[in-house]
Amino acid sequence: MKLDSLPTTYRRADYEKAAATIRRDSRHTPRIGIITGSGLGPLADVVQDADVIPYRQIPGFPISTVEGHAGQLVLGTLGRQPVAIMQGRVHYYEGYSMAQVAFPVRTLQALGIESLLVTNAAGGINESFRPGDLMLITDHINFVGMAGANPLRGPNDPQLGPRFPNMSLAYDPVLRARAQRAAKGLGFTLQEGVYIMLAGPSFETPADLRFLRTIGADAVGMSTVPEVIVARHGGTRVLGISLISNLVSFHPVHTTGTGDAEALHHEVLATGAAAVPRMVQLITHLLESWDEA
Ligand code: HPA
Repeated sequence: MKLDSLPTTYRRADYEKAAATIRRDSRHTPRIGIITGSGLGPLADVVQDADVIPYRQIPGFPISTVEGHAGQLVLGTLGRQPVAIMQGRVHYYEGYSMAQVAFPVRTLQALGIESLLVTNAAGGINESFRPGDLMLITDHINFVGMAGANPLRGPNDPQLGPRFPNMSLAYDPVLRARAQRAAKGLGFTLQEGVYIMLAGPSFETPADLRFLRTIGADAVGMSTVPEVIVARHGGTRVLGISLISNLVSFHPVHTTGTGDAEALHHEVLATGAAAVPRMVQLITHLLESWDEA
């Protein structure tokens, strides 16, 4: 649904209704939900026996307005696991509320997923990172949430999760170890670090970035945190992987005007495109070994 026709608050029945539509239109019962970040949508192209459901056919589902996000749910088999891949996600900066941003995760939970694999494109703050690196998210800083915009703000439905959910191990250590093992098997290592979400859509100033570095962030982006909070609220295990699409600059750089941010968005998409085969290999390999220790 488009922004102005979406409900602003949801109840459990809304998630159930969306899930019922997906069940009706797909042969698959997903065990793992996957959210593809900017430029990473092609992951859904390698799914076997795919059932493709456009978001507009799912009641209550928000639709992304951003380039690089297709807007469909792809259900099928990847690495022998039944998966539901969100090809495209919405962002807070598009004008959606945090609850609307997290609606698809609630829907996947109503469908019965056990784990959520979240990917995104992020700017590298850690100076040892290189563009194209994959970073395992070890923890996040909920910068937007600290200022009040948390997807769990408002009445709590105890059937969905606790009023005060624990976030101390939001990114599952067992899944992280599996991901490192899968990467090692493919001959590379994953960077590890803390992801910070800013609201966007303007990119950070050099002063913003020096501040983010000081408070312990390794990568910065404009997504992921609301989905992870809702996933953990509902007891879903989470694995997060950032594609480091660009390195940030802590000092002013010569600019050619307002077109620069546009150029950076295209850099994000281009680096995403170049790194897609590695991300696809990693996730496929990871899912193939999902049921090992
Ligand atoms: N800043 C914020 N979000 C981003 C960036 C960045 O440099 N790169 C990709 N997403």
